[in-house]
Amino acid sequence: MKSLEAIVGFIKGLYPQMDPVLLHRPEFLGNEKAYLNECIDTKYVSYVGRFVVAMEDKIKELTGACHAVAMVNGTAALHMALHALGIGPGDEVITQALTFAASAAGIAHSGAKPAFVDVDRDTMGMSPESLRGFLETKTARRNGILVDIANGRTVKAVMPVHIFGHPVKVEAIKAVCDEYDLILVEDAAESLGSYRAGKHTGTFGHAGILSFNGNKLVTTGGGGMLITDDASVAERARYVSTTAKRPHAWEFYHDEVGYNLRMPSLNAAVGYAQLEYFDKIVANKRETAMKYHEFFSSLGIATFKEPDDCISNYWLNAIMLESRAERDEFLKYTNDRKVQTRPIWTLLNKLPPYEGCTRVDLPNAEWFEERVVNIPSSVRL
Ligand SMILES: Cc1ncc(COP(=O)(O)O)c(C=O)c1O
Repeated sequence: MKSLEAIVGFIKGLYPQMDPVLLHRPEFLGNEKAYLNECIDTKYVSYVGRFVVAMEDKIKELTGACHAVAMVNGTAALHMALHALGIGPGDEVITQALTFAASAAGIAHSGAKPAFVDVDRDTMGMSPESLRGFLETKTARRNGILVDIANGRTVKAVMPVHIFGHPVKVEAIKAVCDEYDLILVEDAAESLGSYRAGKHTGTFGHAGILSFNGNKLVTTGGGGMLITDDASVAERARYVSTTAKRPHAWEFYHDEVGYNLRMPSLNAAVGYAQLEYFDKIVANKRETAMKYHEFFSSLGIATFKEPDDCISNYWLNAIMLESRAERDEFLKYTNDRKVQTRPIWTLLNKLPPYEGCTRVDLPNAEWFEERVVNIPSSVRL
């Protein structure tokens, strides 16, 4: 592959202060330390204290969601969203084969099993046509219940993922869900600050989730959040993730097996501080993406761009190479020269825990799997 030297030089030039150049390093540029000190000084370090509520309020304001419940991570938020929506053992949740393993893990933690559909070439996310194809060919109604013909599980929900921050065609997916009476949960772990038709990702269905992992636009170290307009879903998720303890000044009475999955105040303090300058973060991510588009298009290499009528947060920039061989050559060359690059994930249907799951053909997911490489995308402020 030609131009490799120029590519490494360009990326190092974008991040002159970083050696090695990491894929996504967090930056702490605001009140993070001051707020952490406040937690320590006030002794509010667990989920009690002002920062968890403050961060939930900020996320509501930013996304337009009516309710937000902070969790220890995005995977837990997915688990709690599905659980609060009544999804559990014996159920199936349709997601896309091309996503991070946590999307399917969240489903599995709820007791349900995932099933896989294809993605679209212009969004990298769930294809509404492939979803419809799955429902038409792999499911049937038995006694009024939609079941997976192959295993008899009840098909309850659909979970599209906004890959690398690029919004999926969620209105079209929602229309299919409405037709089949399916619950829609959006995995917006990667898409804080991404909008489709002016509406924030994660707010189109019954619930959505966000991640604040160390590699995201806003980080709490580890953290996540469930967002929803449904008060009963928020209340249920909050209750069961806070040990299912009935509110009382001193009595310990738990009326079911609860979870302990709430975000601690120490983590929320960091995330809240980052949200105070979120506008700068997204503007900077966009600027970096535009620099990459310009540079790679001059070399004839395709970059992945935000879909029509969408604003992407450009969480992780992606280029598309010609073949797996070219992809592997690129990965070796760049990583050898201390520029961290990564291939897109192995399709979930190929991973041992999910090998037997029902799926349709996945030509687009396979196409992306062969050639997508993520390139360094940290904030440059
Ligand atoms: C698509 C997707 N879903 C879910 C998650 C899970 O989030 P967390 O790492 O906070 O558990 C992540 C990321 O990290 C992700 O990228």
